[in-house]
Amino acid sequence: MPPSSLLFLGFFVLAGELIAGQHRSNGVQTMMEEDEIFGLFEVLGALLEDPGWAESHPQPCTETPWPGIQCEIGEDPPIFHVTKIHIGPDIASPPCKPSANLSESLLKLPFLKTLTIFNCFGTSPVTLSPSVFGGVSSLEHLALVSNPALSGKIPRTLSKIASLRVLSLAQNNLLGEIPREITGLVNLEQLDLSYNKLSGEIPVEIGGLNGLTILDVSCNGIEGNMPSSLGQLSMLQKLDLSSNRFTGAIPPDLGKLNRLVLLDLSNNFINGPIPETLSGLEHLEYLIVDHNPINSGIPLFIGTLGKLKSLSLSGCGLTGPILNSISSLENLTALALDNNSLNGTIPPNLGALPNLDQLNLSHNQLSGQLRLPEDFIHRLGNRLDIRGNVGLCRSNQIYKNSIPTYLETPVCGPINGKTSADERPDDYERSTKPPRHHDKMISSASWVVKSSFQPFSNLVSAVCFLIFSL
Ligand SMILES: *[C@@H]1O[C@H](CO)[C@@H](O)[C@H](O)[C@H]1NC(C)=O
Ligand SMILES: *[C@@H]1O[C@H](CO)[C@@H](O)[C@H](O)[C@H]1NC(C)=O
Ligand SMILES: *[C@@H]1O[C@H](CO)[C@@H](O)[C@H](O)[C@H]1NC(C)=O
Ligand SMILES: *[C@@H]1O[C@H](CO)[C@@H](O)[C@H](O)[C@H]1NC(C)=O
Ligand SMILES: *[C@@H]1O[C@H](CO)[C@@H](O)[C@H](O)[C@H]1NC(C)=O
Repeated sequence: MPPSSLLFLGFFVLAGELIAGQHRSNGVQTMMEEDEIFGLFEVLGALLEDPGWAESHPQPCTETPWPGIQCEIGEDPPIFHVTKIHIGPDIASPPCKPSANLSESLLKLPFLKTLTIFNCFGTSPVTLSPSVFGGVSSLEHLALVSNPALSGKIPRTLSKIASLRVLSLAQNNLLGEIPREITGLVNLEQLDLSYNKLSGEIPVEIGGLNGLTILDVSCNGIEGNMPSSLGQLSMLQKLDLSSNRFTGAIPPDLGKLNRLVLLDLSNNFINGPIPETLSGLEHLEYLIVDHNPINSGIPLFIGTLGKLKSLSLSGCGLTGPILNSISSLENLTALALDNNSLNGTIPPNLGALPNLDQLNLSHNQLSGQLRLPEDFIHRLGNRLDIRGNVGLCRSNQIYKNSIPTYLETPVCGPINGKTSADERPDDYERSTKPPRHHDKMISSASWVVKSSFQPFSNLVSAVCFLIFSL
């Protein structure tokens, strides 16, 4: 029954359909409509392991509440309606039975605003029925997350739920394309389709979702160019397109997203150069582009992104120098430029960045004498990695106390700073090199540290991998 029809039927007409469970609280007569409560019993019965749930919770809105359910009193008549169903390990254990599915009886809950189901569908296959997900038109918040058995396509009918503000279908096994129709959900604020097996392209019409603050389609198989229309999402704070198959250049219009805090494009096939318009991302704190064939220089504007905390451009085929302007990013905590073809020297001012706590410049073509301050080197320890730069050398005078493992560079030749690694005393280098197994141990420990410091890049790729290997 559509919500409005309740208003047209009188209270006394309805009374015949009301079941027991009436009671008075604060002088308001409160009861429930029979169809709605049986609908709830059927929905929960199709999900939960407990076959006696309905008997033990005959009045789930009043006398026998359950933490996963919320109700609100309607206005006319003043009776209770189910407005929220939440299922997850925090509510029930085990949350769901092996044969759990989504009952059509969801359609009997015309006041349902929130439906969140986490870690539930694990064994028998469940799909999103077009009739159900076109029909629960009161929904504002739909989150079906971490359900390995939730597969099939995203139904086009979702676009009929015009009130939807949050749509999260992350960490399932959904297939097919992102339906063009969902770009009509103009009230959408958060769209998270990450960690599925979605394919096809991002619909150009996505630009119409101009209330979006979060768009996350990471860890799918989405291909094609990033549409320029993404630049119309002027409220966007988080844009995560990582670990897909995007190709082509970064659309210059992305630079219009002046509220963006996180931009993650890592693990795609995106070409450079990174457009200068991205200097407009004045609130950007995380710029993660690792593992893309950018194949150009570090963008000249980088020093203007003063809020940057994490800049990650590993494995991007970067060439040319490490721009000195990076040293003006006083909020930088993590800088990863490893596995590129950067040449020239390491700007010593990087060591003056007060918050920098991770610096990976390994596997480049950097050269010259290392002039990072000693206190910086000790502060970072093994979170400073400059291995694999054959032209680098360090002075014999400093860094004597303890040389972090990843600082293994030859000592420069006799004339301070002017000589290259070619003149290094090789035997000294060998004697300071730790044994292989020690190297490995430190490497895995630093991985843990790095992950916890960089939740948006390395950890994400690790999780991505974990999910696909389930
Ligand atoms: C859902 O599960 C119920 C029992 O748990 C079963 O009767 C019903 O056929 C199932 N529906 C679908 C669509 O699998
Ligand atoms: C660093 O961040 C703080 C807090 O967000 C901000 O006030 C400051 O302007 C930032 N630094 C630069 C160089 O923009
Ligand atoms: C370095 O980057 C290349 C692509 O540029 C990639 O194939 C390789 O796996 C990366 N190596 C490491 C250690 O990340
Ligand atoms: C630096 O990056 C390389 C890959 O290019 C990686 O193998 C190494 O573990 C990283 N170092 C640290 C300290 O994270
Ligand atoms: C860095 O490499 C470029 C070519 O990619 C070359 O033109 C330039 O001279 C190199 N600079 C240094 C300092 O080696």
